[in-house]
Amino acid sequence: MKIDILTLFPEMFTGVLQSSILKKAQDKEVVTISTINFRDYSTNKHKTVDDYPYGGGHGMVLKPEPIFSAVEAIPHYEQARIIMLTPQGEKFSQKKAEELSKEKHLIFLCGHYEGFDERIREHLATDELSIGDYVLTGGELAAMVIIDSVTRLLPGVLGNEGSVETDSFSLGLLEYPQYTRPEEYRGWRVPDILLSGHHQNIEKWRKKESLKRTLLRRPDLLAEATLDQTDRELLKQ
Ligand code: ADE
Repeated sequence: MKIDILTLFPEMFTGVLQSSILKKAQDKEVVTISTINFRDYSTNKHKTVDDYPYGGGHGMVLKPEPIFSAVEAIPHYEQARIIMLTPQGEKFSQKKAEELSKEKHLIFLCGHYEGFDERIREHLATDELSIGDYVLTGGELAAMVIIDSVTRLLPGVLGNEGSVETDSFSLGLLEYPQYTRPEEYRGWRVPDILLSGHHQNIEKWRKKESLKRTLLRRPDLLAEATLDQTDRELLKQ
């Protein structure tokens, strides 16, 4: 996968892109991630990228020219998903991450100030995403969240391939509780069933915990999840 990030603050990405799984994914060449400072595409002598809003009002608006020119300089941009980060976008979700992980090329447009000139939204972006109902100072953190969650889904990125399938949300439920050694810590014991070695019972326990946790914390998810008869029985217990 190829990812291009248009931003006025490329330095914000350095720590995130050069650490942990995102670094490994790039080292393995599963993904190539580049940042592009669209200020470099401004044609006026002060390199401005924003201007006053027509009709008046507070704040500044990102001009169309530098953003269109920066995108159009990216090879094969026509085949890419061009994702604008804004609090007005569709709410990002695990389902969206899975959908985006199947693409070959993603371009992220990170805005600042009062927002983008509407023509960028109408004639350049293919998608508009929000990471939640709160306002950030810019789209960079949102782009990082999306890039992180998409990259970890790419084949060969996570060592243990199975872990993607048991993620919270991927089955529409929250994940079950996990334990590791020691068996007892400060008097708090690991549930006996996990030490029993009885795989079928462990699976059943995990499913039940998953269902219980989802019911208590996120009943909205449970309403959407597809439950079979055994799941319904477990929920009643
Ligand atoms: N830019 C500012 N706030 C945002 C949000 N919540 N999601 C995506 N982009 C944003």
